[in-house]
Amino acid sequence: MKTVIYYFTGTGNSLWTARRLAAEIGGADLVPMAGFNGGGTESNYESVGFVFPVHMWGVPRLVIDFLKKLDTNPGVYYFAAAVNAGQVSRTLIQLRNLMKSYGSTLSAGIDVVLPSNYIPWGGPGPAETVRRRIDEAGETLRCRAAAIAKRESAPVDRGPLWQRIVFTALYRLTFPRISAMDKGFLADDKCNSCGICARVCPVGNVAIREGRPAWGGGCVQCLSCIQWCPKAAIQYGKKTSAYERYHHPEVRLVDIIRAAE
Ligand SMILES: Cc1cc2nc3c(=O)[nH]c(=O)nc-3n(C[C@H](O)[C@H](O)[C@H](O)COP(=O)(O)O)c2cc1C
Ligand code: SF4
Ligand code: SF4
Repeated sequence: MKTVIYYFTGTGNSLWTARRLAAEIGGADLVPMAGFNGGGTESNYESVGFVFPVHMWGVPRLVIDFLKKLDTNPGVYYFAAAVNAGQVSRTLIQLRNLMKSYGSTLSAGIDVVLPSNYIPWGGPGPAETVRRRIDEAGETLRCRAAAIAKRESAPVDRGPLWQRIVFTALYRLTFPRISAMDKGFLADDKCNSCGICARVCPVGNVAIREGRPAWGGGCVQCLSCIQWCPKAAIQYGKKTSAYERYHHPEVRLVDIIRAAE
């Protein structure tokens, strides 16, 4: 059975998840969602996965835009992993409904908890917590992959009811504002003009002007630019200069640059 996993990632958690899932189900092609232009190549696959981070308690805009371009097929087995920091909320239900609106079924949806990359609220936490989360996520993927390999159907994972009520309202409130949230970024004097922030942006929203990054107002808030800057020179508000940067320890800068190209 030929499988493809489409992924979106800012700091590598979702790429690592996609790799682990691919290995556990006996192999899959991995294709970044960023820059996907449709074209129907997906029709060669009998099984299609989506792996992406939860953003603001729901499906990120980049994933919604990607799905609009995907040539969906009701005969294909669809599965997903929503990678998050402990609040998956209604994300996989939202994705299941989106797939339904395209005439297809999301047959499996896994809640995968990994360290938080949402630096405006703080760093990823102590090293042992990071390690434990990664180990537990690996175990979750190992257990759940067998059903996906056998193309079984089950209700998608979801957060508790209170989360789905409170955070769905917040998702609706924040979603239209996300693209302009890059107004909060600035580069401080540690910037050495290396241009990495521009190269990791999956939507080409960062340009280097006079040696400094400039944000274009079309942000998807993946936080790649702030997290991968080798000088920790990008700040978002007043607090981030004190917070530790994060990316998944098994994912390299070159992987993120490739995924953004
Ligand atoms: C803009 C933004 C919003 C986020 N919202 C949530 C959220 O609603 N729930 C949650 O558990 N984690 C949230 N996170 C954390 C990420 O989902 C989590 O760290 C994820 O593993 C990052 O995956 P990546 O490394 O593939 O980008 C958010 C992160 C970002 C950047
Ligand atoms: S990645 Fe950091 S150091 Fe490099 S250009 Fe961007 S802000 Fe400056
Ligand atoms: S500007 Fe930064 S946070 Fe926004 S999409 Fe690009 S890399 Fe992600």
